[in-house]
Amino acid sequence: MSMLNYPIPIGTHALSELQSWLEGRSYSQVLVLCDENTFRHCYPRINAFLPPHHFHIIPPGEQHKTLVTCQQIWETLTRLDVDRKALMINLGGGVVGDMGGFVAGTYKRGIDFVQVPTTLLAQVDASVGGKVGIDFQQYKNQLGLFLEPQGVFIWPAFLETLSEAELRSGFAEVIKHHLIADGEGWESLRKLRELSSLDLPKLIQHSVNIKAKIVAEDFRESGSRKSLNFGHTIGHALESHRLESAQPLRHGEAIAVGMVAEAQVSQAAGLLSSEDLANIRTFVRHFFPTIDLSEQEIPEILKLMQQDKKNEGKQVRCTLIQGPGQFQIDHPLTEAEAKMGLAYYMEA
Ligand SMILES: NC(=O)c1ccc[n+]([C@@H]2O[C@H](COP(=O)([O-])OP(=O)(O)OC[C@H]3O[C@@H](n4cnc5c(N)ncnc54)[C@H](O)[C@@H]3O)[C@@H](O)[C@H]2O)c1
Ligand SMILES: [Zn+2]
Repeated sequence: MSMLNYPIPIGTHALSELQSWLEGRSYSQVLVLCDENTFRHCYPRINAFLPPHHFHIIPPGEQHKTLVTCQQIWETLTRLDVDRKALMINLGGGVVGDMGGFVAGTYKRGIDFVQVPTTLLAQVDASVGGKVGIDFQQYKNQLGLFLEPQGVFIWPAFLETLSEAELRSGFAEVIKHHLIADGEGWESLRKLRELSSLDLPKLIQHSVNIKAKIVAEDFRESGSRKSLNFGHTIGHALESHRLESAQPLRHGEAIAVGMVAEAQVSQAAGLLSSEDLANIRTFVRHFFPTIDLSEQEIPEILKLMQQDKKNEGKQVRCTLIQGPGQFQIDHPLTEAEAKMGLAYYMEA
């Protein structure tokens, strides 16, 4: 058992653990949810570990994390006469996991589901913590639930078929976990020069431990869970801003910029040394492509920041770091501060 109330095995044994976990239960039916890519790359590798099952395949990408796709999955469940004793297995990245959990949680008032994350982002972050949901109109994760899975089964070998860009996107959350919760770990991580020299199983375990501990303390995000929002106030606004553009950003690419900007805000607030700030920018710049932010974009990004779900009333709140490894929640973020933070990102 993990710090949470469900198993989260990580490693080469994860799929056989799923198999024996399933053998210990008597589900009436099993539905595997995949997207086209995970159906092609991951489903053949997990199939032998599963009992007889049905599957439903969705098109890949954030633009399909919608009510329309949910409706199609609910139709499949209904057509197959799936009852409340059934199980859904969400095999995919954060899109499949978030949407599959939402569909399972609302079908006949809720059936069990397990997460089998196949991207680094989902393995280190999205699959753990019990937030499920979908996008609605132009708002990300506008409809959703706090709902825990019955288990999360993390097999790092799934990452072998993931593109370098997707791997990097997930790596942003790994950096975040170090910056909010493991200062010593950050000092060694920041010496890394190549993603290919990462010990992924070790890194995934490290991130999951941090996330599970924070979530176990504060499931509904009234306090310390807000630490996980570091980099996300500015980052998320940038991501939304670029969503409709010709070059949309991956979640982690936007969060990487957000972390540099919010680290600068931390430094300006007297919480972080200039040296630590410079180290963070150098590291992010080394791994992530530089995002060119034009003068006209800044006010639009600041406007989107005002609409953030994390805000209370009209006040924009963000999480700062107090030296690498510690955080401070609920910093009232002014437009001037955010602007300075973004300027610092662009300066180098
Ligand atoms: N619930 C949470 O707490 C939480 C936290 C962070 C992010 N999220 C959500 O997660 C989503 C982003 O997740 P993501 O980055 O995993 O995106 P994703 O699910 O869209 O996956 C990224 C791409 O990789 C492909 N893919 C997945 N696994 C693969 C594999 N093993 N080999 C080859 N290709 C593969 C997918 O088909 C997709 O094209 C967003 O919707 C975000 O809101 C949720
Ligand atoms: Zn994130």
